[in-house]
Parts: sequence; structure tokens; C-alpha cells
Amino acid sequence: MFYDTDTNQHGLKFDPFKALMAPRPIGWISTISPEGVHNLAPYSFFNAVGDRPPVVMFSSVGMKDSLRNIAANGDFTCSLATYGLREQMNMSSATVAYGVDEFKLAGLSAVAGVRVKSARVGESPAAFECRHWKTLELPNFLPADGPRKAAKEPNFVVFGVVVGIHIDERFIKDGIVDTAGMQPIARMGYMDYAVVTRDNTFTLNRPMASSDGQSASVQPGPWDGVYR
Ligand SMILES: Cc1cc2nc3c(=O)[nH]c(=O)nc-3n(C[C@H](O)[C@H](O)[C@H](O)COP(=O)(O)O)c2cc1C
Repeated sequence: MFYDTDTNQHGLKFDPFKALMAPRPIGWISTISPEGVHNLAPYSFFNAVGDRPPVVMFSSVGMKDSLRNIAANGDFTCSLATYGLREQMNMSSATVAYGVDEFKLAGLSAVAGVRVKSARVGESPAAFECRHWKTLELPNFLPADGPRKAAKEPNFVVFGVVVGIHIDERFIKDGIVDTAGMQPIARMGYMDYAVVTRDNTFTLNRPMASSDGQSASVQPGPWDGVYR
């Protein structure tokens, strides 16, 4: 099947876009208000967009509390959402009133940042402390005279430079981060999630180009520790 998103006549029970853009990592974003109240919420329009220096982005459908706090305070922290913390992650997405501390709501510990004012989730095995760089307001890309109307509020994409990273040392083995051991969760479509485990991860060596640059081959066996 094919459908045009200007009309979005997909004929399915629900809009399939997010079920196909999956799995999406979850940025569990924490911020602090000017009054000093912690805020926490999951965002699955989230990813890394640079690595020297590391940069992350998340996107908010409308102006939410996380964005207000970031605009006022200039930083945020993303903690890793894991299978063991799935219920707390979900609870922190409740649209409670501004000023309600979702760390408390979800029974999580807010641990002070090293380089930023925003706290991280103490129970999470990894967290990124981020300095706000820029927030972009996305325009309404739909044709003005088209049948489909955009969401009431625009999407805002928030970029942050990662200035510090926390890793629970129990998940470092022989100098390598045991990502699968942390069991990160990711968002799919509808109310579905995926979890990364040792059973569902695999390794692929990068292809090495031939000296004349005309072909490439993949070395068999375990990774030799060289990025290609
Ligand atoms: C797993 C998950 C992912 C979510 N991803 C997003 C997202 O990418 N963008 C968004 O605007 N809301 C997203 N939400 C909804 C927000 O978490 C929710 O609106 C929350 O109340 C926002 O909190 P805040 O107002 O404190 O920022 C997601 C919810 C869940 C459970």
C-alpha cells in the first residue's frame, strides 16, 4: 500500500507513522523550573545527532513543561529508560499540572547534576547532562488549502550539547559498556515498546574498502577494535 500524508487516507485503524518509525530510543528528559521544582518526562522523538561533541535532540508536540524549564534554565538531562524502570518511565509521562515533580510522582530519586542544574534519575544506569543549544519551531508543512490540518500547536525540536555522561560502573565490562545488560527500552507504535537484551543484539563488522576504492569486504570473526 501507499498513502499520501497530505491527505493521510491510510484506511487503517490508527495512523501508522510511528509504528513504522520504530524502535525509537526514549530520552527521559529532566529539567528544573525557576522555582527549583524537578520535572521529568519521556520523549521518543529523541536521538543523538552528533558525537564530537556529543549532541542530542528531542522534539515536543507543542510547548510542554520540559521546554518551558529549558528556556528558563538552559539545561536538561536525559536518563536511560530501561525495562526495570518501565512503569516509572510511563508514570512520568502523566500530564500533571506544571509544578508537580514527576520524580516524586513516579517514586524516583532526583540526583543533582555535576555540570547542569537539572537532576538525573538516580535509578537509571546512564544519563547525559546537556547544555541547551537551540530550540527550533517546525513550520506547518501541510498545504494551506489541503484537507489535512496540522496539530493545534507546532513541534519544537530542542538540541542539547552533552557536557557530561554518567555510567553505572556495574555495566562496564573489560572497558566496554554492556548496553544490552542495561536493557534499554524503545518506543514503537500504538502502546508498544521494545527492549534490548543480550538475546536480541548482534555484531556486524564494518566493510573495509579495497585499496583502489572499487570494492569492499567484511572481515569475518569478532571486531578487531578498529572503527572503519
Ligand atoms: C514513551 C513515551 C514517549 C513520548 N514521546 C513524546 C515525544 O517524543 N514528544 C512529545 O511531545 N511527547 C511525548 N510523550 C508524551 C510526554 O511524555 C507527555 O506529554 C509529558 O506529560 C510531557 O511532560 P512535560 O510537560 O513535563 O514536558 C511521550 C510519552 C511516552 C510514554
